[in-house]
Amino acid sequence: MNTPELIRKKRDGCALERGEIFEFIERYTRGEIPDYQCAAFLMAVFFRGLDGRETADLTEAMLHSGQVLDLSCFPQPKIDKHSTGGVGDKTSLVIAPVAAASGLLVPMISGRGLGHTGGTLDKLESIPGFNTRLTLAEFRRVLGVCGMGLIGQTDELAPADRKLYALRDVTATVESIPLIAASILSKKLAEGIDGLVLDVKTGSGAFLKKFQNARELATCLVEIGTACGIGVQALITDMSEPLGNAVGNALEVVEALETLKGRGPQDLVELCRELTAHMLLLGGLEATLDAARARFDTVLASGQALEKLAQVIGAQGGDARVVEDYSRLPRAQHEDSVVAPEDGFVAGLEAQAVGQASMLLGAGRQRLDSVIDPAVGVIVEKKVGDPVSTGERICTLYANDLGLLRRAREMVRAAIEISPEPVRALPLILARLPEFG
Ligand code: URA
Repeated sequence: MNTPELIRKKRDGCALERGEIFEFIERYTRGEIPDYQCAAFLMAVFFRGLDGRETADLTEAMLHSGQVLDLSCFPQPKIDKHSTGGVGDKTSLVIAPVAAASGLLVPMISGRGLGHTGGTLDKLESIPGFNTRLTLAEFRRVLGVCGMGLIGQTDELAPADRKLYALRDVTATVESIPLIAASILSKKLAEGIDGLVLDVKTGSGAFLKKFQNARELATCLVEIGTACGIGVQALITDMSEPLGNAVGNALEVVEALETLKGRGPQDLVELCRELTAHMLLLGGLEATLDAARARFDTVLASGQALEKLAQVIGAQGGDARVVEDYSRLPRAQHEDSVVAPEDGFVAGLEAQAVGQASMLLGAGRQRLDSVIDPAVGVIVEKKVGDPVSTGERICTLYANDLGLLRRAREMVRAAIEISPEPVRALPLILARLPEFG
């Protein structure tokens, strides 16, 4: 294959053949194509796009750049959930244990937080001893014992995505729907799953802020995932305010544990219920959405999901006593609050700004190699639509650096909008693809 010829073909808007895409990805993964040629290729894709067939071929080529887990020795249906990333999104810590306690196998390979969005691995690593860097053999052992496992990406699974993503990050080619779809699906398909539920976020705290773009990505993910042979259900959900109350790693672990004890914030519980219900449907454990929702509520109320999370924490080297004793989690030294400047109703709590304030405190990373502080973050005590009176607390910030605390407090203050008139919060679930009766 002549690499400049292939770049030119895409640059001029022509469709690439399956063989060309596979060869390009194989050679790039082996280091035979330099980054400068791959960067030009990515920019050509960014502007010219890929059609459905090319996107499916790219996904498969990236998937087969490494191993695909063979989980056929496990009897359960293998179903995972993926979120495109948001602020305060700790759903994986609730959904995976409920789904596993319900009889699914959940081989969850998650990411780290980047920018204002959080990542499941960072939240888990705030639990003393929790190891997200298991080998694939260790991961299989945990899956066998617990029915679920939570680890980070390994070099063996979809290595092409790791290289391509790092290059996209520095060449302004991240925001391309076919490239995002191939990136997400190649990693998820490498888990050897039968089905995937996708939480595609939209709104100020999301990666794709406009509903139309979120719908386009969700459609592409459903079409390509289905073409690659797995069941896929996407929900498009609102991320204009943080999900739940806690933003920041250890703070979010506490909120997830509270949710597993039946005391979760209403929006978080609703989203976890919907996403888990779709996982149960895809896995064939329930036949209707209502029955699947009821199963979520029953399993949560039984305490089995909390036990499941404690079991996984122990199996992955963590201190499972955190489940009952939150003082075992890291705690920040300082706190401050933002209060309502006037009587009224919370009209906005801009998710991106709250996420950025939390990142500034140290809960997130600007770059992939930044070190994070697990203890810090923000608790949003009022949500959009809540009434407030002058001086009432809306947010509490937790910090280990007083200078950062002052700056973050200003950011949170600017993120809050108060209206004199009652305000209705946006619905959380904005659309389902495929549409659901
Ligand atoms: N998440 C991914 O895994 N890949 C992308 O390209 C964007 C978001």
